[in-house]
Amino acid sequence: MRGGGPLGPAGLALLPLALPLMAAAAWASARPWPAAPRGQPRPSVVLVACDSLDGRLTFYPGNQTVDLPFVNFMKRYGTVFLNAYTNSPICCPSRAAMWSGLFTHLTESWNNFKGLDPDYVTWMDLMEKHGYHTRKYGKVDYTSGHHSVSNRVEAWTRDVDFLLRQEGRPMVNLTGDRKHVRVMEADWQNTDKAVNWIKEEAINLAQPFVLYLGLNLPHPYPSPYAGENFGSSTFLTSPYWLEKVTYEAIKIPKWSSLSEMHPVDYYSSYTKNCTGEFTKEDVRNIRAFYYAMCAETDAMLGEIISALRDTGLLKKTIVIFTADHGELAMEHRQFYKMSMYEGSSHVPLLVMGPGVKEQQQVPNVVSLVDIYPTMLDIARIPIPQNLSGYSLIPLLRGKAENEVSSKGPRPSWVLSEFHGCNVNSSTYMLRTGKWKYITYSDGRSVLPQLFDLSDDPDELTNVAVKFPVIVHSLDKILRSIVNYPKVSSSVQRYNKEQFMSWKQSLGQNYSDVIANLRWHQDWLKEPKKYENAIEKWLGKTK
Ligand SMILES: *[C@@H]1O[C@H](CO)[C@@H](O)[C@H](O)[C@H]1NC(C)=O
Ligand SMILES: *[C@@H]1O[C@H](CO)[C@@H](O)[C@H](O)[C@H]1NC(C)=O
Ligand SMILES: *[C@@H]1O[C@H](CO)[C@@H](O)[C@H](O)[C@H]1NC(C)=O
Ligand SMILES: *[C@@H]1O[C@H](CO)[C@@H](O)[C@H](O)[C@H]1NC(C)=O
Ligand SMILES: *[C@@H]1O[C@H](CO)[C@@H](O)[C@H](O)[C@H]1NC(C)=O
Ligand SMILES: *[C@@H]1O[C@H](CO)[C@@H](O)[C@H](O)[C@H]1NC(C)=O
Repeated sequence: MRGGGPLGPAGLALLPLALPLMAAAAWASARPWPAAPRGQPRPSVVLVACDSLDGRLTFYPGNQTVDLPFVNFMKRYGTVFLNAYTNSPICCPSRAAMWSGLFTHLTESWNNFKGLDPDYVTWMDLMEKHGYHTRKYGKVDYTSGHHSVSNRVEAWTRDVDFLLRQEGRPMVNLTGDRKHVRVMEADWQNTDKAVNWIKEEAINLAQPFVLYLGLNLPHPYPSPYAGENFGSSTFLTSPYWLEKVTYEAIKIPKWSSLSEMHPVDYYSSYTKNCTGEFTKEDVRNIRAFYYAMCAETDAMLGEIISALRDTGLLKKTIVIFTADHGELAMEHRQFYKMSMYEGSSHVPLLVMGPGVKEQQQVPNVVSLVDIYPTMLDIARIPIPQNLSGYSLIPLLRGKAENEVSSKGPRPSWVLSEFHGCNVNSSTYMLRTGKWKYITYSDGRSVLPQLFDLSDDPDELTNVAVKFPVIVHSLDKILRSIVNYPKVSSSVQRYNKEQFMSWKQSLGQNYSDVIANLRWHQDWLKEPKKYENAIEKWLGKTK
């Protein structure tokens, strides 16, 4: 039974032997940095980054819906972050932040087409330079040029005054039987490669290593029924994984009526083809299939943990599990991410290994830019002052209260931004304490949102008007981090420039090519009207 649960109850019982009590004694007394006492070998690191896993599934009550045994294993022997966020809820910009340690307005990775400069020195480059053996498998996706033409044109034209459905309607597809474990073949192949590398190469290394495994799951699958230019709106799994889902625990999200939606949310829902009718059963199924896909992801993480345990490397290795962003799975009448709502922006972050406190739940807000300084801290490499994030090591040791990094104290907020497709305005989110503040564009032309997550975890009541003083103070903090009106207008300029040069490159084929992108069903009904809307947008000076 591959992927089914090699660390079953027997494995769990064995683990305390594999991870002796070194943690408590040796590590707690080490002051200040580095992460490990000098003289002791630096730990190896394994980072498993999946795609689209809603972080709330890794702790109560979200974890009631699906059995994730290896996430639970990491919680038992390590630390789970209860408030970890992506810095930009879409693949390439999020990964650019994770690999660069910089906020999105600094990497200028505005969409899935525009990523990080390939020459940028990542934490992995630095670790290699400082004696680590490095290895990557699977999806990396932080440099430029990937993803479909549709995807980038949708991002560039988001300011155009038109509304087109760009995606297949979200749907489910059950494949195979109760024995069908390997549904996402490509991910399993990459997992196998990483496992083999651990068993055959890592085990013989004299130096510490850093291994990265990037998984596509639980990202939804392409919907080929929608034609040549299709999106990925199919939630695909097998009965084997569906059995791990507790249907009774699945919450059916409340939706605002279409007319009451925030205008930007309406644009998202419409372009994602979610404004049609959905029954409760449709929604429950999409969510169940999504959770089943998360269970399959967890099993891949399990293969890596098992390989580390079987080779005896687990006790010398820090394991990190995270995702680039979440998945709304029909919350707020949307699937995919691109949104600042919890389902989309909240990511899983679990860490276990030498020096990491066991059974710890960390409430502090953290974000993916923290990975870069954390990696350097683990490898005892000096941390540059100009990174956007902070090392997680003090929190991981359970010493948050009295430790301060060389850069000063960790701030009490995190920042996320979005500048890509399916959202017709640059979006900025500041999360601090119980508040989530979301503002758009120039800060004036679009209604901001404020949610009290302690009172309204489903983010259904925008209290921005009710608490103007809070909005004012959060906006002030935000502006001290980023001059967001300026960033928004530079993205608008970039979008137009990119679109114009793409249009020019197509010559006389332009009308034909643009009509047949992912939005072709709608476009072809009134091609002239949509072309005119584009001309009007291009003609505007700003
Ligand atoms: C859910 O998470 C809580 C808190 O971390 C834990 O106590 C509980 O055992 C978990 N439940 C499941 C079903 O995984
Ligand atoms: C949108 O969903 C409808 C069904 O609700 C489907 O017929 C149509 O093909 C979808 N549009 C696109 C662009 O995929
Ligand atoms: C369902 O998934 C199977 C296996 O990937 C595929 O062959 C089939 O075409 C899919 N069906 C639909 C309707 O997408
Ligand atoms: C975004 O799209 C919605 C729906 O078409 C529209 O009401 C809103 O004005 C647009 N917002 C911006 C900033 O263009
Ligand atoms: C950050 O500082 C390092 C030197 O510590 C420098 O090499 C790098 O270019 C700087 N990066 C940015 C984005 O300013
Ligand atoms: C337009 O399309 C034709 C046929 O596909 C192709 O041969 C030609 O190179 C294209 N022209 C441009 C400017 O891309």
